[in-house]
Amino acid sequence: MNVIDQLIQKKARLCVIGLGYVGLPLTLEFAKKIQVTGFDINPDKIKSLRKDIADQKISLVSDPDCLQEAIFFLVAVPTSIDKHNIPDLGPLLSACELVGKHLKVGAYVVFESTVYPGCTEEDCLPVLEKFSGLKAGRDFKYGFSPERINPGDLNHRLINTVKVVSGCDQEALENIARLYELVVEAGLYRASSIKIAEASKIVENTQRDLNIGLMNELSMIFDRMGINTYEVLDAAATKWNFLNFKPGLVGGHCISVDPFYLTFRASSLGYESKVISASRYINDEMAKYVARKIIHHVLKFQDPVVLIKGVTFKENVSDIRNSKIVDTVKELQSFHIKVDIEDPYADGEEVRLQYGIQLNDYPGKHYDAVIITVPHSSYVDLNDDYFCSITKPEALIADLKGIYRNKILNRKYWTL
Ligand SMILES: NC(=O)c1ccc[n+]([C@@H]2O[C@H](COP(=O)([O-])OP(=O)(O)OC[C@H]3O[C@@H](n4cnc5c(N)ncnc54)[C@H](O)[C@@H]3O)[C@@H](O)[C@H]2O)c1
Repeated sequence: MNVIDQLIQKKARLCVIGLGYVGLPLTLEFAKKIQVTGFDINPDKIKSLRKDIADQKISLVSDPDCLQEAIFFLVAVPTSIDKHNIPDLGPLLSACELVGKHLKVGAYVVFESTVYPGCTEEDCLPVLEKFSGLKAGRDFKYGFSPERINPGDLNHRLINTVKVVSGCDQEALENIARLYELVVEAGLYRASSIKIAEASKIVENTQRDLNIGLMNELSMIFDRMGINTYEVLDAAATKWNFLNFKPGLVGGHCISVDPFYLTFRASSLGYESKVISASRYINDEMAKYVARKIIHHVLKFQDPVVLIKGVTFKENVSDIRNSKIVDTVKELQSFHIKVDIEDPYADGEEVRLQYGIQLNDYPGKHYDAVIITVPHSSYVDLNDDYFCSITKPEALIADLKGIYRNKILNRKYWTL
């Protein structure tokens, strides 16, 4: 029987490996149509998910033995970089080992984790084959379908966003497409090869990184010229083909990470990236640039204290992975400047464990500078009165995303 028919008739299970920002929505959507096992190596995560999710069709597990009934695997584990910006394939390859041990003839494995072009076939397949004793393409099929989950975005969701799919051959492509068609209402784009699908994902994020890098560079130039970047962008945006990008800190686990996968692969093929590397460098340095601006302002005061509003990598999410503002904090602290930090979305315990930083529930009232990093919805309506009430008269309001432009009248104002 065809693999998708087996799933639809509930004779076999889909298994999602890695229940994070990507794997969890996949598990929940597919469980509306077929039987799903959600596997994560983190037993605490499984415990807390079990408390929240009471769907009979979903089996949430951290015990590898529970993967026996699965015939279709979707892999959504982290693909990060190490401290030298080199891809860390550790979680991906250990997921391949795990899946390999449970692969049967006729099974499918589809990767969703962002990787460089060639990774699925050159790095993942050998591990799957080794631990299954099966031959890829003949005994089991495989493919790649990059995820497009945008945490915190209620408009662009799994079901209403076109999804790119690819497979190791035509039959695989059609079956993989049939699977995703069960949940993705917006339709699928069938890429002509796995490498094309892998590359397409990395290009999406690299393009954003590059455009933000350009805005950050413009911001540093315009600062020297004494003109406001956001006003320049407003004027330029009246042209029909102007692209809407803004300066800012680039953190998180995608835009600030994925381009390194591409430059790493390019380098191994003898090409040293110039443009991509330049924007990575600029974006990574912005946190220190912000710190230097603040230091320049507050060092003239005695025992200066700075408040940072916002530690998550973007607005209205609790995700603190690769938060760039942490670099600003360290730079300020290296000048013995006291820094208070608050964020209504971030989990204080997580921030403490990951960065050794204590969040302040009730910030003080006499700051020499306030940095607003992201436009959390609870920040956007704050006004001049609020900032005056928590700062000294000489304070600087550093509004990185330009939310309070033309609204801060009684304090010094600076934006990227
Ligand atoms: N979240 C996004 O918006 C986004 C966007 C673009 C790309 N991606 C990519 O999607 C992939 C997954 O990202 P995420 O944000 O969902 O990550 P995440 O950190 O939120 O979740 C990953 C989960 O995988 C689990 N895990 C780690 N190793 C495992 C293993 N060997 N076996 C089973 N489970 C394992 C972790 O415990 C965690 O729960 C990454 O490649 C990422 O780059 C994510």
